[in-house]
Amino acid sequence: MMTAVHPMPRRGRFTAGMLLGLFFFAGAVQASEGGSIKAGREAAQSCAACHGDKGNSNNPAFPSIAGQPAKYVASQLTAYRDGKRENAIMNGQAAGLSDQQIRDIAVYYAAQGRKVASPADEGSELGADLYHQGREGVAACAACHHSDGYGNQPAGFPALRGLTAGYAAQSLKDYRSGARAHGQAVLMIPLAAELSDEEIDALAAHIASLD
Ligand code: HEC
Ligand code: HEC
Repeated sequence: MMTAVHPMPRRGRFTAGMLLGLFFFAGAVQASEGGSIKAGREAAQSCAACHGDKGNSNNPAFPSIAGQPAKYVASQLTAYRDGKRENAIMNGQAAGLSDQQIRDIAVYYAAQGRKVASPADEGSELGADLYHQGREGVAACAACHHSDGYGNQPAGFPALRGLTAGYAAQSLKDYRSGARAHGQAVLMIPLAAELSDEEIDALAAHIASLD
């Protein structure tokens, strides 16, 4: 668990104690234990049409989901199913899934290697600075999402590498507006509320350049 503290940026405002508290919080999130990778592979067959082979998407319209923490995938699928995260396509895709199928699909995708098909050539200096150092009112993204965007499996914090700028920016705006407010979104909402449109675009450009 201390490895999560390792990439702590110099000026980050997150203390080790605060992070430790988050791990206890993360433990309260819907458990994804009890899933079967084999059953998940079966249940996920229809998902490949959009999310790509084993969850690595080559189409910017669909986010890669390979290698995301099982807790995160389970939480998002439950939210789509129950209408707490709104997206016309995914609300339909998740509508018929049972809790057990969600657990199976979650452990299946968590076990797949995440590949970044085409990282953006141009990042953003402002985005990189915010990502690594944070600023007053905005904790450094690297503290939770890893300095290279690998996320944090035990805590259920999603990987960001491989997300497109458009998708990352939309997600940040959805936290800022409260459109995404279920589960661990409580960790994103206060800091997203601080971000200007310019900062969101800069962060999204940096995220899209992670390889
Ligand atoms: C027709 C295309 C399509 C299909 C089929 C599809 N998805 Fe999706 N999926 C999307 C789109 C588009 C999004 C982004 C939605 C949004 O912005 O909320 C998404 C988002 C997701 C996310 C959230 C990703 C994140 O980073 O938060 C998960 C998890 C997911 N899909 C899982 C699945 C699973 C599991 C299946 C199969 C049961 C599936 N999807 C089938 C199009 C699809
Ligand atoms: C305290 C830990 C923490 C910090 C700091 C943090 N995040 Fe997050 N982030 C999370 C968690 C937890 C989620 C998943 C929330 C959910 O369930 O919707 C998330 C989700 C996201 C997502 C959506 C991912 C997806 O696939 O849809 C993006 C984009 C994101 N964060 C970007 C950032 C950026 C940019 C920063 C820095 C300005 C940041 N995060 C700082 C914990 C954190």
